[in-house]
Amino acid sequence: MSSDSPIGVFDSGVGGLSVLSALQAELPGERFVYFSDAAHAPYGERGDAFVIERTLGIARQLVEEHHIKALVVACNTATAAGIGLLRSAYPGLPIVGVEPALKPAAAATRTGHVGVLATRGTLASGKFKALHDSLKTDSVRFSLMPCDGLAGAIERLDEAAIQSLAARYVGDIGRFGHQLQEIDTLVLGCTHYPFIAADLQRLAGAQVRLIETGQPVAQQTRRLLAAKGQLAGNGSAGSLQLLTSGNASALDAAAARWLPSAEAAALR
Ligand code: DGL
Repeated sequence: MSSDSPIGVFDSGVGGLSVLSALQAELPGERFVYFSDAAHAPYGERGDAFVIERTLGIARQLVEEHHIKALVVACNTATAAGIGLLRSAYPGLPIVGVEPALKPAAAATRTGHVGVLATRGTLASGKFKALHDSLKTDSVRFSLMPCDGLAGAIERLDEAAIQSLAARYVGDIGRFGHQLQEIDTLVLGCTHYPFIAADLQRLAGAQVRLIETGQPVAQQTRRLLAAKGQLAGNGSAGSLQLLTSGNASALDAAAARWLPSAEAAALR
């Protein structure tokens, strides 16, 4: 493995493309291999044992067949279930996970009330509970909403289901606004949700701040690679290889729709 080796990125499906997009913007000279586990998506309601098995299997494939120099787990659910085991399995490999951005949200809220949309698996995890317990205070509270079915609807591009589930979850989480105790900050705690940010913004209200995690994850990936002297050399051309356990043309179409560097998606 060398600085020319690719960075592996994976998710249960297309959600991790929201993180990949930030990675490509931050690290345009890098080679990326993106794996969408669409044959087994969504992960959010399947339980830890299943998600851990998939996470370790995908990591093994990326390490052994693609000789990745770093791994980005672009999935909150897989990070919550498996990142500790991944780090034990690959102690020398820089591994970056994603978790709901509670800390930036706690710093941003003016009303002291933050909403968190995420999968059931993420919200039920010990990792999330520890984060939540460390940040809730007398002046900041978090309302948590497990969004069953929403990542799956985004995965299938099922517009009717997206609209009805988004409306239900945003409606049920609490009152939005700028009065004390109203929700003024909404955390998108699943990497699929940035793709429906415009819908969520419309439902929550234009003044509500939406917080996602792509950019900090990309910056952390840069820091870890720089510390190991493994950033791609100046002038190297970036590339993207798309892999999936599901339907390849569906992934190509999603990448063309959601990645700014759509032409890179043609480099399969
Ligand atoms: N995009 C993933 C996440 O961030 C997984 C969603 C799912 O597969 O349920 O949690």
